[in-house]
Amino acid sequence: MGLTIAEKILSAHVVDGTFEKGNEIGLKIDQTLTQDATGTMAYLEFEAMGVKRVQTERSVAYIDHNTLQSGFENADDHRFIGSIAKKHGIYFSRPGNGICHQVHLERFAKPGKTLIGSDSHTPTAGGIGMFAMGAGGLDVAVAMGGGAYYITAPKMVRINLTGKLRPWVAAKDIILEVLRLLSVKGGVGKVIEYGGEGVKTLSVPERATITNMGAELGATTSIFPSDEITRAFLKAQGREEDWCEVKADDDAVYDEVYNIDLSAIAPMAACPHSPDRVKTIPEIGKLKVDQVCIGSCTNSSLLDMMKVAYILKGKTCHPDVSLSIAPGSKQVFQMMAQNGLLADLIAAGARILECACGPCIGMGQSPNSKGVSLRTFNRNFEGRSGTADGQIYLVSPEVAAVSALTGYLTDPSEVLGEMPAFTLPESFLINDNMIVPPASEEEMDSVEILRGPNIKPFPVTTPLDETIEAPCALKVGDNITTDHIMPAGAKILPLRSNIPAISMHCFTVCDKTFPERALSLKQSIIVGGANYGQGSSREHAALAPLYLGVKAVLVQSFARIHRANLINAGILPLTFKNEADYEKIDQDDVLLLKDIRKTIENDGEIVVENVTKGIQIPVSCDLSGRSKDIILAGGLLNYTKQQLG
Ligand code: F3S
Repeated sequence: MGLTIAEKILSAHVVDGTFEKGNEIGLKIDQTLTQDATGTMAYLEFEAMGVKRVQTERSVAYIDHNTLQSGFENADDHRFIGSIAKKHGIYFSRPGNGICHQVHLERFAKPGKTLIGSDSHTPTAGGIGMFAMGAGGLDVAVAMGGGAYYITAPKMVRINLTGKLRPWVAAKDIILEVLRLLSVKGGVGKVIEYGGEGVKTLSVPERATITNMGAELGATTSIFPSDEITRAFLKAQGREEDWCEVKADDDAVYDEVYNIDLSAIAPMAACPHSPDRVKTIPEIGKLKVDQVCIGSCTNSSLLDMMKVAYILKGKTCHPDVSLSIAPGSKQVFQMMAQNGLLADLIAAGARILECACGPCIGMGQSPNSKGVSLRTFNRNFEGRSGTADGQIYLVSPEVAAVSALTGYLTDPSEVLGEMPAFTLPESFLINDNMIVPPASEEEMDSVEILRGPNIKPFPVTTPLDETIEAPCALKVGDNITTDHIMPAGAKILPLRSNIPAISMHCFTVCDKTFPERALSLKQSIIVGGANYGQGSSREHAALAPLYLGVKAVLVQSFARIHRANLINAGILPLTFKNEADYEKIDQDDVLLLKDIRKTIENDGEIVVENVTKGIQIPVSCDLSGRSKDIILAGGLLNYTKQQLG
């Protein structure tokens, strides 16, 4: 039986487990990337592992998210990341060099290799035939240290592309069509693989737009074959030697197959507030536009900018529309400056932003209240733009540019004439002077790590004790979210590299005194109801309790990702065998777990003794082989250290 592209890459990288659908497999990771919002913690975690030099083929630290925040914390984070990168063998892409995924595609991504990044749009590199996944900061730290990255072997989905896009219809419209077809949940546990004759009509940046927004399908990743078009792109980037052919076997077997005729696709928009609320422009009808934002890791390539500049050249943006444009990388920006495209954009009234995430992460350009904003980005969740009642529509650069001229949502093919052939240059301008290479092995020991006052080391964890005797420092109800556990917000976010400081906000929305109390107790246990830890994958919701001395969390049920984060932090996740036993513990009761190591090692029955009330409470822990070892080691970092010897 033949293999899919993903199966070929994965089977060449499995280092633990058997590669069968549904099995947990450990993968060797060739490359990693971080961005600054998640990177600081990833590097603190890497530092805590005590590995001297990254073990990957290439690791890159980008600064692209928080480039406009005021306060010293942000600049300190950038300096810290720059210095730790230099010391430990990581390339450092300085602020101003561009958005991580755009730069990675241009300068580092390689067909047939594996990449994890502490950013959910890391699958962008799938456009070049790389198996690229978003991951937690801790996972990236472990991969940098040489540890495997664990995933559930995914199902394979094939999307056959036939035909050719009509003029002024874009790659963005293809992924919007896929989102319309599969929905934001349609990719969960799956790899989306593109194939068919239509693939040959798409350039690498267009393919990358499609794999980038595969994240919105919830997919493990999305991937295109690596072919002659990929080779030409890499050659134009001066790195043809990085090319290799990657393609599916003709008799590869997929779990699901879809066919999309490119010539039947029309320009579309994802309506507020979900990327899968996709409609064609006539279906949406007349829509007055207040703002247009062009850029983000989805649509900021040179090809995108060429089309936008062509549409805007010699015209002026509509008086009621604010138009902002952020090129995706210094390479794109500098080429636009040299070939005159930038002058066309400026002359048309565009507000040129720096090469960074900018408005996509809510850094400026929030629309007016109730404002309609057309964006070439990948997400339009409520409030993400910074304006609670902003109405965000996700569109192609072509729709965005033409609508900026007309003042209302416009199908470019209705107002523009014939489309010229937009072709990528045979060679891109290559100037990596904003990518700082790491120190050599001889020089690395002398590199000083620059820590501002806001950067504190990762908390030290110890292997699981045989006995835990601790009070229930907090009892909470059902549906506790990661926002309850670790609130976010403008005041708290800058503390993300300072676990001691951010921990003082832990659970304060439920109980203001909790952090102080937990710290003074040294060891404590949290008791909760059903669905504990729902919400986001926020790692700090496990790291703050860890710092405060929480040894176990005993609840009626957990949200899956938060439970995994607790295990990674070395905090014991326990559930009541009888949910009604929740009532048998009050806050401040002293709880005792005897012989807990031995019991977990032998898969024995765990009993929590409520010492205060003199009651025995049976509980479950349900740890699989690897997560059991992680808990016994005192968390994923300790476990990885043990594994790496
Ligand atoms: Fe940045 Fe937005 Fe992409 S925050 S990495 S441009 S999704």
